[in-house]
Amino acid sequence: MTLEVSVLPDEGLLFNSAIHCYTEAFSLPPYRDPKRGEEVHARLQSTHKYIDGFQAFIATDPAATYEVIGMCYGYKSKRGQWWHDTVKQKLTESLLPIWFDSAYELVEIAVQPKEQGRGIGTLLINYLLDKRTEPGCVLSTRTDSQAHELYERLGFSTLGQIEFNNRTVPYYIMGKTFRHKI
Ligand SMILES: CC(C)(COP(=O)(O)OP(=O)(O)OC[C@H]1O[C@@H](n2cnc3c(N)ncnc32)[C@H](O)[C@@H]1OP(=O)(O)O)[C@@H](O)C(=O)NCCC(=O)NCCS
Repeated sequence: MTLEVSVLPDEGLLFNSAIHCYTEAFSLPPYRDPKRGEEVHARLQSTHKYIDGFQAFIATDPAATYEVIGMCYGYKSKRGQWWHDTVKQKLTESLLPIWFDSAYELVEIAVQPKEQGRGIGTLLINYLLDKRTEPGCVLSTRTDSQAHELYERLGFSTLGQIEFNNRTVPYYIMGKTFRHKI
């Protein structure tokens, strides 16, 4: 299948389809969280899209123009943001990379369940990170999902493991250096 990757629009059919794609992906185990799509929708529109460095991409099949089969976004990770401050507080200082305070954050990624395992996640992450000028990228991922295997393949390593207060399972904190940019 030929895929097209484009910027997530602010609203409209493609935006709604991206949220639908996210909802489908996170409705399945281990997440089982069909409400998470609505929450991400609200966070995107109220705050995330205004954060410095925000970039969001979608993958579509040209044969089904308005069906999003994958989406991802990120922004600059900075002090004052909930995720940044929580990770910094919970992860042992020595495990944090020296560039943590100026890192890019891969915030969300989801691929339609029926399309997973075909390289779409890899493609989207490459689009998101290819031209970033930060020294590296950080993210968190549930220890009971397979996603960390993908991140490892893309050069991320595990910095440590933490528990977020509002979540039931531990998360890996992962980071990848953009070596040429340090
Ligand atoms: C994680 C996710 C975005 C990866 O996208 P993808 O298009 O399936 O990824 P790719 O095809 O590029 O890479 C596949 C790799 O991802 C990993 N992976 C994670 N979840 C997977 C899944 N449900 N199906 C297949 N591979 C999965 C595997 O390690 C696989 O490795 P392999 O290529 O050696 O087999 C996608 O599977 C997904 O949406 N999962 C549910 C939501 C999620 O976990 N998001 C990430 C939260 S941190």
